[in-house]
Amino acid sequence: MIEIAPDKFDESIFRLLGKDWALITSGDIENFNMMTASWGGAGVLWAKPVATIYVRPERYTHEYIERTRRFTLSFFPSQLRQALAEMGSKSGRNFDKMHYEALTPIEMPSQQVAFAQARIVMDCQVLYKDTMAEEKFLDKQPLEKWYGGEHGNLHDIYIAEIKHIWINE
Ligand SMILES: Cc1cc2nc3c(=O)[nH]c(=O)nc-3n(C[C@H](O)[C@H](O)[C@H](O)COP(=O)(O)O)c2cc1C
Repeated sequence: MIEIAPDKFDESIFRLLGKDWALITSGDIENFNMMTASWGGAGVLWAKPVATIYVRPERYTHEYIERTRRFTLSFFPSQLRQALAEMGSKSGRNFDKMHYEALTPIEMPSQQVAFAQARIVMDCQVLYKDTMAEEKFLDKQPLEKWYGGEHGNLHDIYIAEIKHIWINE
């Protein structure tokens, strides 16, 4: 993988996250967990390149992010779609995600974990965390649509500095 500067990164984050999906991975090579995400963003804050992710507190990956304050975002070729669907429907609490055949974990130079099959890896360090609150929804439609019942709890919002972007050529 080669490292590129954030301002040289020219792929659509709307497509990468919203359509192709990503894996959020947190922990070290001996003990990590990952989950699929299709909500999030990338931009600039406090004069730093940042990625924002939204993680419900009930996710096992949430525990890792809370503990380490680090995560990677990995983006994959379309052949890995099924693997992403599985990582988004099973929890590492009762499924051995660390030894999942289709995804080969690799240790990045920063000691964070990503995958050999990834096309793009963003290595992130959390700067800021907040929890969504019902009274802050100025439009209640997303609140009613996406929370409660089978959906789950309000998301925690993590804004993280993108320390490195690596691409697999
Ligand atoms: C396409 C897709 C996108 C998802 N996006 C998110 C997300 O942005 N935030 C979130 O908290 N959960 C999201 N999920 C759900 C988690 O990936 C799922 O609950 C996963 O099993 C959690 O795994 P864990 O308990 O091992 O962390 C998504 C699932 C899928 C299939």
